[in-house]
Amino acid sequence: MLERNHIEELMRRALALAERGGGKTMPNPMVGCVLVNPEGRVLGEGYHAQAGGPHAEVAALEASRVAANDVRGAIAIVSLEPCAAHGRTAACTDALSSAGISSVFYGTRDPATGAGGERALEAAGIAVTGGILLAEAERLNEAWLHFVRTSRPFFHIKTAQTLNGRVTRGREGDRWITGKAAQTEVHRLRRLTPAVMVGAGTVLDDDPLLTVRKWPPPGNTNRDIEWPEVQPIRIVLDSGLRTPRDSNLVRSAAAQPVWIFCSQSADATRRKALIDRGVDVIPIVGSDEGVDLQAVSDTLAARGVAGVLVEPGPTLATSFVAAGLVDRWTMFLAPDWVTAKGALPLLLSDRPRNGFRLDKPEWQSHGRDAAVTGLVETVSDG
Ligand SMILES: NC(=O)c1ccc[n+]([C@@H]2O[C@H](COP(=O)([O-])OP(=O)(O)OC[C@H]3O[C@@H](n4cnc5c(N)ncnc54)[C@H](OP(=O)(O)O)[C@@H]3O)[C@@H](O)[C@H]2O)c1
Repeated sequence: MLERNHIEELMRRALALAERGGGKTMPNPMVGCVLVNPEGRVLGEGYHAQAGGPHAEVAALEASRVAANDVRGAIAIVSLEPCAAHGRTAACTDALSSAGISSVFYGTRDPATGAGGERALEAAGIAVTGGILLAEAERLNEAWLHFVRTSRPFFHIKTAQTLNGRVTRGREGDRWITGKAAQTEVHRLRRLTPAVMVGAGTVLDDDPLLTVRKWPPPGNTNRDIEWPEVQPIRIVLDSGLRTPRDSNLVRSAAAQPVWIFCSQSADATRRKALIDRGVDVIPIVGSDEGVDLQAVSDTLAARGVAGVLVEPGPTLATSFVAAGLVDRWTMFLAPDWVTAKGALPLLLSDRPRNGFRLDKPEWQSHGRDAAVTGLVETVSDG
């Protein structure tokens, strides 16, 4: 029988495999699977690459078959409890039992099935152990778990600020707050999420592309598992459709999706011009700040968008905080104090209605910059 630390090592591999499907599996989770014989020799591995495609267990069984490895009596290490439901693909529990798998170790339970997968495996005579590297498995799929439990997307806010809390440098030609390593991390976050969102102010100031271009970095040590190219849906909140027709986003809309949320009274000619260039223009109810964030959230949920990386300027960040819609915040901190006129603060108000703290904060360094990330917990501090 395999030792616990060997099982955990294989689970780490399953989680790394699962990540490769990031951004493409929605509304499904990211899942990876490794099949080993009782001595721990790897027979096959796979991951769920996209919704509607084979699940990780089926991909791993297929890889074993292609490698002519006999999986009867093998052990499956799966990052998520195998599914017992027949959806767009056959149930993984059936696939595992008919292949003759003897035992299954999984990471996190699937909240959508109420332990149905575990019960189905046990009914088929397969030994099941859950909770292997539970915290890591939950972290990987936190957006999806949140979406299943609440039916609303998980909003992960990412900002970069200077030592004195400025998110812009206030000078032309000096757009970046952080250095290369931090930017690589932002591209990793984009790669793992189904959608990236900005406000119209950032589109007008920066003309961003919002694609994944810097991940994986050259020389990435975990390249033995390939990262397929996946791009997030790019979302702009732009009530008056100020996004220029010749912006990077619009010019690339035919190749990679761009969704623009606008007010219901937005100019029809502008709307048509954007639609003609491949933009999905979504009129929605308004608010004092622009488009109504709750309505945006509902529309994204209806479209199956489980998670969004929001890269807000101060105006949009302030609205997200006021709406209580921030689930995770990653704050990058550059070791600079800027005094230039026009350098913008993180939020428009330094007294948001409620204070908050980052729960289970993780501190990282990225080159010369630091970052802290955590789940946002509102605190009432008077
Ligand atoms: N360092 C960082 O982390 C970071 C990240 C991003 C951007 N930035 C910088 O921030 C600057 C832009 O910031 P900004 O505050 O001017 O603009 P912003 O936050 O990027 O966008 C705000 C605009 O989005 C639209 N919007 C639509 N619905 C909204 C809602 N519910 N709440 C808020 N906004 C809504 C509004 O325009 P309409 O009324 O026209 O809809 C609003 O003026 C840029 O210079 C950029 O470089 C820094």
